[in-house]
Amino acid sequence: MTKKLFIKTYGCQMNVYDSERMAEAMGGEGYVTTDKPEDADMILLNTCHIREKAAEKVYSELGRYKGLKADKPDLKIGVAGCVAQAEGEEIMRRQPMVDLVVGPQSYHKLPELTQRTHNGAKALDTDFPEEDKFEHLKARPKAKRGPTAFLTVQEGCDKFCAFCVVPYTRGAEVSRPSQRVMTEARDLVERGVREITLLGQNVNAYHGHDGGLAGLIRELAGIDGLERIRFTTSHPNDMDEALIAAHGDCEKLMPYLHLPVQAGSDKILKRMNRSHTAEQYLKLIERLRAARPDLHLSGDFIVGFPEETEADFQDTLALIEAVKYGSAFSFKYSERPGTPAAERPQVPENEKDDRLQRLQALLTKQQRELQDAMVGRDVTVLFEKAGRLPGQMVGKSEYLHAVHVETDQHQRGDLAKVRIVSSGPNSLKGALIPELHTATA
Ligand code: 5AD
Ligand code: SF4
Repeated sequence: MTKKLFIKTYGCQMNVYDSERMAEAMGGEGYVTTDKPEDADMILLNTCHIREKAAEKVYSELGRYKGLKADKPDLKIGVAGCVAQAEGEEIMRRQPMVDLVVGPQSYHKLPELTQRTHNGAKALDTDFPEEDKFEHLKARPKAKRGPTAFLTVQEGCDKFCAFCVVPYTRGAEVSRPSQRVMTEARDLVERGVREITLLGQNVNAYHGHDGGLAGLIRELAGIDGLERIRFTTSHPNDMDEALIAAHGDCEKLMPYLHLPVQAGSDKILKRMNRSHTAEQYLKLIERLRAARPDLHLSGDFIVGFPEETEADFQDTLALIEAVKYGSAFSFKYSERPGTPAAERPQVPENEKDDRLQRLQALLTKQQRELQDAMVGRDVTVLFEKAGRLPGQMVGKSEYLHAVHVETDQHQRGDLAKVRIVSSGPNSLKGALIPELHTATA
């Protein structure tokens, strides 16, 4: 009998990828996915521990499932992801209806752990085994899939930024061998994928290929039918010459780079243990733009890191002014138990709120300006779905802007050259270039 699995995913793109792979592994056990928790035989929360709010959400979501479990005692409830790794058994103490806790390095054991939960038994696994969990997960079934996919190539981090839980929850940096990545990528392309985003917490530290991440990208670029390659997230100190050069001459590598700097003050960068200065970051951006002048940059910023003064914050604004970001993610510093920054004198909450507002105002303005500056330019769009209006398709440009295009000749997965004709609140509008030619001929 088929059973139903509901997975709720929090946090980063790696969790999205992990959820897909867990669903596939449970498919081998007779589970099909559902988007309704009330229909499920198993509920799995794939959690995020990066900020306090993200972790708290898990407990409030679990609270909501109490009623479901009371009505259906056979319902299995599992917690996966970084909260599972960080809190382990504590989760079952706080929410006794949880049957199963599984850390990110143990997903290959999910079917076995689920079997162990029969008759009310609990199962927990938060080990860091030596083997590659993805090798043990069932192969992706050959079903057709959408035009874009994530592919994890590297996991964990050895950087130990003073605010961050990742080195503790995801463990030490591990790269998957490039042959395995190539096999998975070819399989994705056979199933309809045109764009692959390589994932890693510190993806540009990838060493599963002799030529590093740049070597892997160049090998992937040789796959017929794979049209676009992206990667995220990178650390400035691992941006080597080869990777910078790839941005200049590897056509399939898209001109968009997520390169978090977190802050613009050297004092704060040092206390964050980022091992680079603001000037070194700006120099790096210069080199990247020399290789690829139209590169769109994206970043992550933290405001209100312990002991950040108004002058330090001004340095962050100045760095943002200097770079001009196409998009960005910004957060108030969140104290994470066990990380060095949690021990330092904290910035008051109202001060963090105020800085976040000012920072986001500047980032939104830049994002708007860069999006508006696309009008009149020609881009290539990879269509992902039908638009809201009939005869309209939506896809992403090279720069990751959403673009709406009127067309009756394209479907999901097609690439088309379009000219941007207007810029809306959250997306661009484009016209097919051949149509423009006929219109003016
Ligand atoms: N508080 C706030 N933001 C954080 N990030 C990581 N840890 C914290 C924290 N303790 C942000 C960083 C990182 C992004 C994924 O999350 O900006 O790049
Ligand atoms: Fe966390 Fe990224 Fe720093 Fe690693 S490099 S510790 S993942 S913020």
